[in-house]
Parts: sequence; structure tokens; C-alpha cells
Amino acid sequence: MNSLAQTVVAEFQRRYSARPEYLVRAPGRVNLIGEHTDYNDGFVMPLAIDRATWIALRPRADGQVVLYSLDHQEELQFAVGDLHKNAHHWGEYPKGVAWALQQAGYGLRGWEGVTECDVPLGGGLSSSASFELATARAFHEVSKFPWDKPTMAKLGQRAENQWVGVNCGIMDQMISASGKAGHALLIDCRSLETTSVSLPAGTVVVVLDTSTRHKLSSSAYNERRSQCEAAAKTLGVRALRDVSVAEFERRAGELDELICRRARHVVAENERTLTAARTTDPAELGRLMDASHKSLRDDYEVSSKELNAFVECARALPGCYGARMTGAGFGGCAVALVRTDAATAFTNKVGKAYQQVTGLTPQVFPCQASNGAELVNL
Ligand code: GLA
Repeated sequence: MNSLAQTVVAEFQRRYSARPEYLVRAPGRVNLIGEHTDYNDGFVMPLAIDRATWIALRPRADGQVVLYSLDHQEELQFAVGDLHKNAHHWGEYPKGVAWALQQAGYGLRGWEGVTECDVPLGGGLSSSASFELATARAFHEVSKFPWDKPTMAKLGQRAENQWVGVNCGIMDQMISASGKAGHALLIDCRSLETTSVSLPAGTVVVVLDTSTRHKLSSSAYNERRSQCEAAAKTLGVRALRDVSVAEFERRAGELDELICRRARHVVAENERTLTAARTTDPAELGRLMDASHKSLRDDYEVSSKELNAFVECARALPGCYGARMTGAGFGGCAVALVRTDAATAFTNKVGKAYQQVTGLTPQVFPCQASNGAELVNL
């Protein structure tokens, strides 16, 4: 059994002197390509990673949720029928999910449990979405409402947007709900249709955590969203997803210089993502990832000097097909596609190279694509 699973089960037994009835997990994610496209109704291609939020739990009859977090060493208690906001606290995620589920008409039972997460918290690998989906799954097990992945993803996003107050798109919740072991997913962020994509044979995905942290709620993310909306308005489309590269080139002159660069990133990134989903050639996927990074760095301007340094260090090593920042940017993680037989040497060297350039201590870990939110056998 996974070591986090063991820890949450053992802590549950210690606290309640009984076995939990359910064990659930929901993963974090790394996005291979398709960045800042989700809120433009576009395409993304993330994979759910083998790091997750785990919850061991059993139902309660009194409508209370009692959750002990091993990460925060703190117990949270709330009544599903009497929710109050309490800004900047980890407990807002489960409360927000309870709120969103009830807004959608689901009747909820209470439960008690223990949680732990090995997705680095606030590190750009969607620890928040993994917590939201794990909580939703816990409510599903005790309350027995239907589990529809896109619906649950949308409710997780609603909790994050309207309860926690972070204006994110749908990618993180969709992949945490829908991930498929051994595969990346191409997600159409308008229809929420997903297509599983096999990674090129003989490659490994390596996460490069800069150890610098972003604030997603920061104004820069919202500013990019407004700039994209402004571009769509000028071009007379519902969202930038509706503009092809050829049409964009014809009409780019209608946009202000800054808005034009922002829109160019989104339009080109959608095309790169669709190409990436079709290719089986690791070198081509790597080139698309490199081009994505350049576009995020120069046109969309959401990279950082640490992210750029890590990407450079990665690309300089043998067996690296391509590397790019991943997630919202401004800090957090980069991702590299590496030849399997070079992966161990790459993993050993890339962190040292980054440390030499920046003086910072990073985390580097290869990851396996895992399933989305699920019940795990006890
Ligand atoms: C964050 C958001 C996502 C998406 C990415 C950028 O991870 O939560 O919705 O917008 O940034 O691609």
C-alpha cells in the first residue's frame, strides 16, 4: 500500500480506535503542454501524477465534518448545513466543496477522517485541486450521489473560484478528476471532452520544482485573463479558442501590441497542444514544449528567472527532448521530457546545475501518470 495511504489509515485508527470505512485519493497534476489556454476555452494536455491528497474516513450521522490534517497538524470541524467562510485557511477547500455540492442540489452526509498530501503545497502542481477532488470523493462515498467526472471537476472549480476566491480555469480539477494511469489527457476545455494520449515510448516526465512559489490569486493571472477577453472581443469571437493561427495572422494588426502578444501565445499554444496530442515522436513533442516555453516567456510573460534557468539547465543535459515551465508560472515548477535510459543521470544532475546557477535548493522527481480521484481498496 502507498505510504501516505498507510499513514492516514494508521492515524485514523489511532484517533477513532476503528478501521476507516473508505480510503480515497485525488492526484495533483503536471501539464505537458497547453498553458493559459483553459480559460480561453482551449486545449490542455496534463497528466495526473503519482502524488495525491489521501483521506481515510467514515460517515457521521450528525451532519458534521471532522477532518484532521497531518500536513497542518490541525483538526477542522464544520456542519454541512451551516457553512461560514474563514479566509486563508486550509479548511476552506473542504468547506467550499461542501458548499458547491449543495448549491448543485446534492444532499450531503457528514464524515470524519484524516488527510495527508504529498503534492508540494502551493507549488504549482495543483495541490488545491487535488484536495478539492479528494474531498468531493469523500462526500460521494458517504452521501452516494452520482460521480460524474466533469461535473465534479466543475464543482471543484466553483469551490475554488467562489468560495476560496481564486480565479482559476478548469484544467487542474478536470485532470485531478479524470486522470488515466499511464496516459496524458487531451482536454477540450469548452466541451470538457477528454482523449487519452500515450506518451512517446521510451520517455519519462520529470518535474523540476524551482522551490520558488507563486500566488495564483495575484493580479497578474487575472490581468492575463482580461487581456485574452479583450482580444476575443476585438476579434469578435466568443473565446480565443475560436481563432486559428492563419486567421490570427491576418487580423493581428487590429490588436494593440501587448494584447496581440498575449493572444498570439494562446492561439499558437492551442495549435501546439493539438499537434502534441497527435505525435508519437518524442523529439517533436520536445520541440513543441520548448516553443511553448519561449512563448510563455516572451509573449505571455508569465515565466520567471528561476523557471528559465531550470529549463536551460534541463535542455543542456543529454537525453532531454524538451522542457518548459508548467502551471500558472511566476514560480513553481518546470517539466522536462527525458529519454528513459538517460533519466537517472538527468535527475541526478539537473538539480545540481540549477543550484549552481541560482543558489536555490530545488526538488526534482520523475513521475508516473496516475488515475484521477478514486476509492482505493483498504
Ligand atoms: C493554473 C490554473 C489553471 C490554468 C493554469 C495555466 O494552474 O489553476 O486553470 O489556467 O494555471 O495554464
